[in-house]
Amino acid sequence: MFEQVEDYPVDPIMIGTEYFAQDPRTDKLNLTVGIYQNEDGQTPVLKAVKLAEQRLTETQSSKSYLALTGDTEYCRVLSREILKDAFDASLVTAQTSGGAVALRVMADLLAQMPKPPTVWLQTPTYGNYVPILKAANAQFAHVPYYHSIQREITFDLMLDALNAAKPGDVFLFQGVCHNPTGADLSADQFGALLDRLEALGVVPWIDLAYLGFARSWDEDCEMARKIAARFPECIVCITLSKSFGIYRDRAGALFVKTRVQDKNRIHRAVSAIVRSGASHAPDHGPSVVRTIFQDDALRRLWLKELEQMRVRVAGVRQEIASRERAMIGTENLAYFADQSGMFSLLPLTEAQEIALTRDHGIHVVKGGRVNVARLSGDDIEKLIKAVSEVTSVS
Ligand SMILES: Cc1ncc(COP(=O)(O)O)c(C=O)c1O
Repeated sequence: MFEQVEDYPVDPIMIGTEYFAQDPRTDKLNLTVGIYQNEDGQTPVLKAVKLAEQRLTETQSSKSYLALTGDTEYCRVLSREILKDAFDASLVTAQTSGGAVALRVMADLLAQMPKPPTVWLQTPTYGNYVPILKAANAQFAHVPYYHSIQREITFDLMLDALNAAKPGDVFLFQGVCHNPTGADLSADQFGALLDRLEALGVVPWIDLAYLGFARSWDEDCEMARKIAARFPECIVCITLSKSFGIYRDRAGALFVKTRVQDKNRIHRAVSAIVRSGASHAPDHGPSVVRTIFQDDALRRLWLKELEQMRVRVAGVRQEIASRERAMIGTENLAYFADQSGMFSLLPLTEAQEIALTRDHGIHVVKGGRVNVARLSGDDIEKLIKAVSEVTSVS
């Protein structure tokens, strides 16, 4: 019976890890992984997280089921944190197993509508959107976002392509620290995008994955606040995997702002989709997040640790730009300093990307994504030299 199962595509990040493991060179460099790493290449548990975990062990009195939409207190605290004054009583909230399940629940909801909307996606964008939308049977289409060789956002092309969207369609885009490009819209571009979405009657769907890694936790939440304050309907997906360093503990959330008369129906729809799919979200990560948000001292400690991660990644970006100038006098990678978050795309053709791995042992995600947070010390020079060599040869 199983002989009829077709070959499924392997995730490009997983392939990267596999190729890296097979590479016999000792000086190889793996820039494929999507997690924060400190100067020593570690992804440690934050102190605030450890303290919250200790508190939970001492105080948790039951592990019974909660609602299908999770812990209402976690959802309340998180929605107030992220949306602040833009918080609205007509918000449907659900605790989810990380950001991926928030995205999947929403994709299911859209796909199951009698007249399913088209989800418009940026190219390039987070590699898991298409598999999630496909698995849900949702309809989607693409608009251009970024040109990796020219190292710039193709903003006008994106807006032009969006004109093909119909009222009631959805535009899925990211908050700060765009994955995989590291290139975020300027404040003016963001304003112009919202104007266009409003004019077209397109519903914004914002995915927040790297809050705190661009400017600060509070400032990075601003985009979601502006959207929620302005649009009568919008969707917010959140993962706290990166901001709290709790990747495998799976803390995420889905906020759906509806018109008041739709709220209860959407809440029942979200509950039913959760019930038949991912089911109850894990409790541990979200409880850690709730405990930190509810305690001023823990919240301050976590914000300090988040800022340390942000500063380290921003520092590596500056160092890439300044060391390249000092070493070879070029500015091939100078744009790294203007971008934010863990990822950027190298300005390489496919052949140059292959040469980077073949000749220099530097492994990147297909399409040229590198994890800036993995770089430190000599690795930075290794990357600069290798990029310079592969771009001057071909
Ligand atoms: C833009 C974006 N959205 C969502 C996610 C999913 O996060 P999680 O691991 O919490 O499911 C990621 C993870 O890398 C991401 O980069």
